[in-house]
Amino acid sequence: MTKTIRIQDIAQHTGEEVTIQGWLYNRTDKGKLQFLQVRDGTGFVQCVVFKKEVSPEVFEAATSLTQESSVTITGSVREDARAPGLPGGYEIGVSELHVHQVARDYPIQPKEHGVEFLMDNRHLWIRSQQQWAVLRVRATVIRAIREWLDGNGFANMDTPILTPAACEGTTTLFETDYFGEPAFLAQSGQLYNEADIYSFGRVYCFGPTFRAEKSKTRRHLTEFWMVEPEAAFCDLDGLMEIEEQFVSHIVQTCLRERAQELALLERDTGHLEKVTPPFPRVSYDEALEMLIGIREKTDDEELKVQLAIEWGDDFGSPHETELTKQFEKPVFVYGYPTRAKAFYMEPWPGRPEVSKSVDLLAAEGYGEITGGSERISDPDLLLQRLAEWNLPREAFEWYIDLRQYGSVPHSGFGLGVERTVTWICGIDHLRETIPFPRMLKRVYP
Ligand code: 4AD
Ligand code: MG
Repeated sequence: MTKTIRIQDIAQHTGEEVTIQGWLYNRTDKGKLQFLQVRDGTGFVQCVVFKKEVSPEVFEAATSLTQESSVTITGSVREDARAPGLPGGYEIGVSELHVHQVARDYPIQPKEHGVEFLMDNRHLWIRSQQQWAVLRVRATVIRAIREWLDGNGFANMDTPILTPAACEGTTTLFETDYFGEPAFLAQSGQLYNEADIYSFGRVYCFGPTFRAEKSKTRRHLTEFWMVEPEAAFCDLDGLMEIEEQFVSHIVQTCLRERAQELALLERDTGHLEKVTPPFPRVSYDEALEMLIGIREKTDDEELKVQLAIEWGDDFGSPHETELTKQFEKPVFVYGYPTRAKAFYMEPWPGRPEVSKSVDLLAAEGYGEITGGSERISDPDLLLQRLAEWNLPREAFEWYIDLRQYGSVPHSGFGLGVERTVTWICGIDHLRETIPFPRMLKRVYP
């Protein structure tokens, strides 16, 4: 019995006889030589079947292998600088081949398919190299998120998904029937995190989040994963310090551990290497000035229209894109107008029309990846805001209660996993960063 190895560890087995288990990705027929590209979930390797070195049955089986056929292969590991694969530079000289199933008519060919076709076949498309690489980066992003938070005193507290009230605005709520009463799928775990900090100091929740986003954009899913850290005795400056360390850790971990996947995705990692603290910070007012300047200078009429904005408006995707072009690193924009943001944000001292909010915008046009703020800690102000935002007091009694018993300044933010993975991978659309995306027009498969 030879040792069964994972392709990612192949370098440690040079010169050894090993067994791998996986699926045929591609095959090149050179007569007496069959080049089998095999993947096992951890990498890709070329397996060479030479007619003279195997039994007639094995050679016959190799020549009839089709894409996605499942196989167990035994052979010796050779170093060969030219060998394609991941990690590249190794190949297997095959001695034994066992076919579990010959796949018939696999619908996804190594050629261009339309996006809708690929999305209908998402259950198969995730096997493709690019998709595999993106989802490996995702898994590492998630690991790095937990690693940093767990290592920096944040306790993981899971928050409910079935909730009685809105957190991020009533227009994107998914309503469900909760035994005859309406309940909503969580848009955020933040409000519950705010209760948890009074028990644990620093907490985070991490889970799926739901928003009935009616717009079809490349940056919005209706179900996405968000990690939300929240900290007691933390103001807006403290929050930005946490965020820049946290995001830098995520990016640097991916650069270190997923270099091969990023290379496969042809990601230019130059920008990512610069992602280290501190990040530049600009106020909303300064950002608005910059945008007005950019708008005045441009000859691009379309851009002029897109960039039209007045004080008080939230930034849209074109604004974020132009702004981030001005910086080498992700940039914090803080102090957004109160009316552009959520009800729970602490006002700027002496400027109630401004909130102590902050978004982190990623460079290269990727835009907002985190949104956060300092929270209102005064019960009377909170009551006033709930009324102004037309939110039902009954649903928020417990949340108001938190301001009665040892209320403290506190802050938190949410980081969208899919936005972050899209940016790190340098791809165009969020739909490729989650195994089974949910969007306005898609709940299948
Ligand atoms: O800015 P948002 O809406 O902030 C909140 O939900 C706060 N309650 C977070 C907090 O302070 N605890 O969302 C936070 C992040 C965004 O920056 C973005 O990365 C992501 O969540 N996000 C989405 N990602 C994919 N699809 C959508 N529809 C998203 N909406 C927000
Ligand atoms: Mg936001």
